[in-house]
Amino acid sequence: MDQKMKSANVLVIDDDLGVRESLKMILKDKFSVSTLSSIDEAIDGLNQIKPEMIFLDIKMPRTNGLEFLKQMRVLNSTIPIIMITAFPTTQTTITALRYGAFDYIIKPFQPSEILTVAEKAMNHRIELSEKDRLVENLRMAVQQNLFSTAEALLLAIDAKDAYTAGHSKRVSLLFAFVAEKLGMNKSRIEVLRYGAFLHDIGKIGVGDVVLAKPSSLTDEEYRVMKRHSEIGYKILEPIDFLKECLPIVRHHHERYDGTGYPDCLKGDAIPFEASILSVVDAYDALTTDRHYHKKYSHLKACEIIKQGIRIQFMPALTEEVLAIINRYHELNTENERGVES
Ligand SMILES: [Fe+2]
Repeated sequence: MDQKMKSANVLVIDDDLGVRESLKMILKDKFSVSTLSSIDEAIDGLNQIKPEMIFLDIKMPRTNGLEFLKQMRVLNSTIPIIMITAFPTTQTTITALRYGAFDYIIKPFQPSEILTVAEKAMNHRIELSEKDRLVENLRMAVQQNLFSTAEALLLAIDAKDAYTAGHSKRVSLLFAFVAEKLGMNKSRIEVLRYGAFLHDIGKIGVGDVVLAKPSSLTDEEYRVMKRHSEIGYKILEPIDFLKECLPIVRHHHERYDGTGYPDCLKGDAIPFEASILSVVDAYDALTTDRHYHKKYSHLKACEIIKQGIRIQFMPALTEEVLAIINRYHELNTENERGVES
């Protein structure tokens, strides 16, 4: 017998002690068997028992087995449930199968019958888990592919505008550092850092002339440049696993006083994560050479951002983010010294 099957947990739910005991006797050599006498006990014990297959009596006092079957299908679609019945009717059988029962057995039953259906159910479950794993692997591969493609696109933007080279990567690293120090949970940071990485992806839709113009932009050119946050949003909108990143991409140029773009959001209406990114984005822009300015020192950049509090940046949050950026700068300086010495 398959190793996976030997350790599988089987739960028997039947109000008849005789049925519970005989199923246990038949199955115990090949499965780890738990028995319960009511649906209420089963609802309480599910998390602890973690069944991988259930034998379920249809006719029980209080809650009907079919009702429980329906609930289980909503909770978990991969546990095979085998219905037990003494008086099968066509209607009950159809209902059980429609609710997703794997099979049904009729009392009194033969041991061989029970073992055959249990093995069949277990193989079915293993097959389903393998399918789930394949789908998950495929999803990861698609995700990985998408990020590689996005990275290539961002490199293309960087190539068009040498001044922003490495900007996306630096911003996503600093964003993740700040978010962690602000106490954001790890799984959320994992997703949002892709948003930080892709925040300027919409620049792919802005012409080279505007993107790499060495002098200041005309009103019309500025209007074109401003479209990048909305274009980025539209590029990423259809991608399901990046949904949480959309506010960052769309709103990273909103300003606290409501004069930002694309939606002129004001104050607390600006999503929290987008407010963090706007500080991080500005800090990186200020501390790297750009067409319109030479790079500023860390202290000068922080001072400029502080002056923008309540105008461009959210008050308390920006103070906090700057304190964390300061720590990040100190760590990097210490590391650089370590490398030199
Ligand atoms: Fe941007």
